[in-house]
Amino acid sequence: MASSSPFLIVAIDGGAASGKSSTARALAARFPFLHVDTGAHYRAITAEMLRRGILPEETAVTRALGDLVLGTRVHNGAALLEIGGRVPGEEIRSPEVNAAVSHFAALRPVRAALLEYQRGQTSVAQAHGFRGLIMEGRDIGSVIFPDAGLRVFLHADPEERARRRAKEGQQDSVAERDRLDSSRQHAPLTCPPGAVDINSTHLSLEDVVARVAALVNAHIATAP
Ligand code: C5P
Repeated sequence: MASSSPFLIVAIDGGAASGKSSTARALAARFPFLHVDTGAHYRAITAEMLRRGILPEETAVTRALGDLVLGTRVHNGAALLEIGGRVPGEEIRSPEVNAAVSHFAALRPVRAALLEYQRGQTSVAQAHGFRGLIMEGRDIGSVIFPDAGLRVFLHADPEERARRRAKEGQQDSVAERDRLDSSRQHAPLTCPPGAVDINSTHLSLEDVVARVAALVNAHIATAP
């Protein structure tokens, strides 16, 4: 990658278990780009609310959010959300968080708290010498970075996605989360106009990564 290439933002959106995280991780290993998993942000906030016994309701959540100090730790090419100086652990993948996260993510104060934080990840990436950002989520190409240099939308048949989660040993209702995420009022899950839509149902992870890597390379080659 030429040292003069401009900073590139790659937005990867898609439903639950559509392959976003595996794809984003593999790309971050190939390119000098910082990986940011925004699903982990919503999960971390959800785990914290559950720990405090707070229900997904605007007033209580707004009050609790005011106490949270968010930070970022960069580790192995990935940016991790810190809450009060601590990176939450595997509790963010628990069945309780899987069941509650879409309800917290639908609340405007939660999305507002994370919007600026997520946009600020470009500065984190630049401060650590990365040449780009690979951010994955539901609203990255539509709301967080509508001007991202490259926007990709991944999808796969629901049966295949449920099979992937079960293979990971996770108890997770992917269809229900997608229903909630697609139908909410604020920043719903959607394929933004201009995004490259990839159906990964019958593709291996390597195939998906190769396709997106080719798009990144094409973008770099034509960058001014
Ligand atoms: O990506 P993951 O499945 O870990 O995301 C967990 C949940 O976080 C999603 O089901 C969704 O409710 C929420 N989310 C979101 N916007 C994002 C990323 C995740 O609402 N950009």
